[in-house]
Amino acid sequence: MGKKIFSGVQPTGNLHLGNYLGAIKNFVKLNNESENECVFCVVDLHAITVNQDPKDLRNNIRETVAAFVASGIDPKKNIIFNQSQVSAHSETAWILSCVARMGWLNRMTQFKEKAGKDKEKASVGLYSYPVLMAADILLYDTTHVPVGDDQKQHLELCRDIAQKFNNDFKVEDFFKIPEPLIQKEFSRIMSLKDGTKKMSKSDPSDLSRINLTDDKDQIVNKIKKAKTDPLPLPSNIMDLEKRPEAKNLIGIYASLTNSNLEKSINEFSGKNFSEFKDNLSQVLVDKIIPISEEIKKLLIEEKYLDEILLNGFEKADKIASKKVKKIHEIIGF
Ligand code: TYM
Repeated sequence: MGKKIFSGVQPTGNLHLGNYLGAIKNFVKLNNESENECVFCVVDLHAITVNQDPKDLRNNIRETVAAFVASGIDPKKNIIFNQSQVSAHSETAWILSCVARMGWLNRMTQFKEKAGKDKEKASVGLYSYPVLMAADILLYDTTHVPVGDDQKQHLELCRDIAQKFNNDFKVEDFFKIPEPLIQKEFSRIMSLKDGTKKMSKSDPSDLSRINLTDDKDQIVNKIKKAKTDPLPLPSNIMDLEKRPEAKNLIGIYASLTNSNLEKSINEFSGKNFSEFKDNLSQVLVDKIIPISEEIKKLLIEEKYLDEILLNGFEKADKIASKKVKKIHEIIGF
């Protein structure tokens, strides 16, 4: 039987190689397996948990759709839609926030990282954001959720919320318990400037990430400037453990060439970084430039992108509003 796939990406600009290798590449693979039903969501309600300029947000929503399509997601076969257009998401998030427990949310490490030292000033939305994520997933009877490693804890919370709702209201199986799909390797791509920090849209240094809209010169320059260490490349995985930058760069190479760490290490064992970096730049350019050029082409076709979202909205809204109706009945509204 096919899988019911749901995943989301925030339209906060600077979609990067981490988003691509950790998530979008997997979306494309799943969308190519014909038996799967896939729903991909541009999660703008999640984006406003931190300040967004309205004009940038509007552009970034279209850019995220363009990135999906340019990477190989077929908008005819799958649902691509915008979270805020389907009101069931906000509504269900409220209901589920009455099911989720404070103690569960207090454990979320991403909130702690994002809120930083001044938790008092973080938005309430940033705190309750994993509940909205649970609503996204559960509304579509999702069986599998492809995400990067940083979303693992949020998915565990989603499973707990689903189970508690089913138990509290004695509706076994009403919410399907979703499985995370997190790749064993390369599910956490690190910053090019610091191999112990996640590659992130919000890093102030653009040199820390490869953006999906970068051109060839930018990619080559960023890899040239990427942090390394003075040793030649090692001959086994163990030797990579204390070398986070080397491990990250070889991991990126392995993922882009659909290989694994071991094979990629063997390929470059004993060589120096400059030779390896030339090869890495080349595979990055081969993979990212066609996507980058396609994104730029699609961004000119605003009408086409809006049409994709409208189509997606109609399909998603049908599924989600049916589920919300049932939730109302169960609760006693
Ligand atoms: P977001 O927008 O931060 O990231 C989108 C996807 O990219 C993955 N990712 C990474 N993977 C590997 N290495 C990295 N450095 C890296 N950075 C980001 C993320 O794991 C994610 O899969 N809360 C989610 C969006 C969301 C969602 C959902 C996901 C909302 N509702 C329902 C799945 C199901 C988020 O902020 O992703």
